[in-house]
Amino acid sequence: MKDSRSELRDRILELKKQRSAVILVHNYQLGEVQDIGDFVGDSLELSQVAAETDAGIIVFCGVHFMAETASILCPDKKVLLPVLEAGCPMANMITAQGLRDLKKQHPGALVMCYVNTTAEVKAESDICCTSANAVQLAQRLEAKEIIFVPDHYLGHYVSTKTGKPMILWPGYCPTHARIQAADIGRMRRTYPRAEVMVHPECRSEVSAMADFVLSTGGMIRHCKSTPAAQIVVGTEMGIIYRLRKENPDKMFIPLSEQAICPDMKLIGLENILRSLEYLAPEVKVPEDISLRAKKAVDKMIEVS
Ligand code: 13P
Ligand code: SF4
Repeated sequence: MKDSRSELRDRILELKKQRSAVILVHNYQLGEVQDIGDFVGDSLELSQVAAETDAGIIVFCGVHFMAETASILCPDKKVLLPVLEAGCPMANMITAQGLRDLKKQHPGALVMCYVNTTAEVKAESDICCTSANAVQLAQRLEAKEIIFVPDHYLGHYVSTKTGKPMILWPGYCPTHARIQAADIGRMRRTYPRAEVMVHPECRSEVSAMADFVLSTGGMIRHCKSTPAAQIVVGTEMGIIYRLRKENPDKMFIPLSEQAICPDMKLIGLENILRSLEYLAPEVKVPEDISLRAKKAVDKMIEVS
């Protein structure tokens, strides 16, 4: 006999087919949500898949700025975010007005915005980036001055890697900020042969101590190819599910069990089903903002 979770899964898959929808899932989502995704990936991969899909409906299992980015890239498609309240506290640390004020202080500076921003902030930016391509894109930027918003840890990492000074906004991810340098020290003592990989949203001292600094998609690829048998994972805990599923012979140790993003845990099978039934809640960026934001997002996708 089927259990209620597998019945729910079957209903979602059936309705998804009827609606010609595609389900995109971020690497931090709950395991059972990852399992029903057509595509599971990082912010860059998900926006690339959204840009290319033929499906008329995208069910975005992630947070609000990710659904907005899909709406910017595919204005003719219906983008559903099963729980509208799933936001990103870091994206909310900067407003379009705040960025306009900073630009006034640095006329002529180019603005690079992390994808973890609202559409209004993207509309005020010259180029968008994700953690997967920020270094590569910054390297190519020819500008007298570069403003990087809103994550000052990622901005500092990019500035160090490229040798380009940057004007940083004081934003940060509260989830990654919970990971401390002392956690790395403890892990190195407990697992001396393990590799340590972290996300560039981590504190600068944490990134400086790691063996690898990678986006979540970069982590997935790295763990497939590394000969290391033990890997310490310095990012949101949700990725551990996928890492273990894809690499059953390797051991994955969370760098900090405190690294849980509450917003990434809001979506479950029940609200995905409801979202497909009612075709709501929809995330739709108003056209005037969307067109301006698209320039910055397109520039990123072109180069990537
Ligand atoms: P990635 O693009 O590396 O998946 O990161 C998204 C994010 O929100 C990290 O906190
Ligand atoms: Fe935002 Fe951090 Fe959550 Fe990513 S993990 S969605 S950056 S709060």
